[in-house]
Amino acid sequence: MKPKLHAKLLIPLMIVPFMLLRPDTADAQEGQVLLKDTFKDHFLIGAALHRWEITGRDNESLALVKKHFNSISPGNAMKWGPIHPKPGYYDFKLADQFVELGEQNDMHMLCHVLIWHAQTPRWVFQDESGEAASRDTLLQRMQDHISTVMGRYKDHIDCWDVVNEAVEEDGSMRKTKWSEIIGDDFVQKAFEFAREADPDAILIYNDYNLYKPEKRDGVVRLIKGLQEKGIKVDAIGLQGHWDLYEPDIEDLEASIIAFSELGCDVMITELDVSALPLPWGFSGAEISTNFELRDSLNPYPDGLPDSMQAVLAERYADLFRIFVRHSDKISRVTFWGVHDGGSWKNNFPVRGRTDYPLLFDRSFQPKPCFDAVIKVVSGG
Ligand code: GLA
Repeated sequence: MKPKLHAKLLIPLMIVPFMLLRPDTADAQEGQVLLKDTFKDHFLIGAALHRWEITGRDNESLALVKKHFNSISPGNAMKWGPIHPKPGYYDFKLADQFVELGEQNDMHMLCHVLIWHAQTPRWVFQDESGEAASRDTLLQRMQDHISTVMGRYKDHIDCWDVVNEAVEEDGSMRKTKWSEIIGDDFVQKAFEFAREADPDAILIYNDYNLYKPEKRDGVVRLIKGLQEKGIKVDAIGLQGHWDLYEPDIEDLEASIIAFSELGCDVMITELDVSALPLPWGFSGAEISTNFELRDSLNPYPDGLPDSMQAVLAERYADLFRIFVRHSDKISRVTFWGVHDGGSWKNNFPVRGRTDYPLLFDRSFQPKPCFDAVIKVVSGG
């Protein structure tokens, strides 16, 4: 069994003299620039993995993961739906493979996600007659789920997305089955159960659009309220499903500072930057949203023109400049996917588009935005 390595411990460990660490892989020796080496003094560099990467079916994508990333997140494998599809029945197969992959390759791992309103089966919220479950029943199910999943993996994984997306755009608490049945203190309960299951774990609150001032304020209120009750939230995850227009860099910076001032680590947990036009008025990552496909919304079906590659590269560089400037507050930057072909953004918020949101293209090659991100710390 591998000893646990906290993200916070990993960073100082990596800040050992340059000569000792480099070149640390065959690729680096061959002169290939690696993301994880480039940012080793700043933060972990992660990727969320699909089933086909976890199982090795997509070998080329998996090779990129092993080469460039030192942290992995399970894209879907550990969500309630896949891991606990029926009452009393857990399917750990893919999650076990995920953990094995991380351990074999010495990668930091986290669990995504224990409590969320989406990708959670209907039975969780119902009693035997199909009516809404009682608060006590739902709390019991929440506790069983958290203690079972954390119990199985706590000697392997020390970093957990405990609650995902509990706050609305205006900063109020989101209305979901969790909040309807249990009440808004479902967040508190989830963190209490998680802390009980592993007192030493790094526990994360994760959400999208956290750069927006109203939503930022809502999350600050939520975390302060928990802290007043003696509940520790170790980190706040900014999902980071962004685009060429949002977030405003100053808003983003203000959120990083505000969350850090709460005493929380900041993590960028689901980074992708869409290169496509937005359907009018849309921003965020509410996964139930979808718009009709129109040519004007899918302008680059055959490849991203050089001029747009340059715009995307500059946008990525702006974001990474902020991350590096605040790397004393940020312990991890995780991309939501590995290469453009596997990104959910091809189907969100409009199904059937061709998007270019990640650093590697559909042929697994680094894009101009990869070079731009590297140059943020290596100059040139
Ligand atoms: C949210 C969730 C992720 C994923 C993305 C869309 O951001 O946190 O798990 O489902 O939506 O793929």
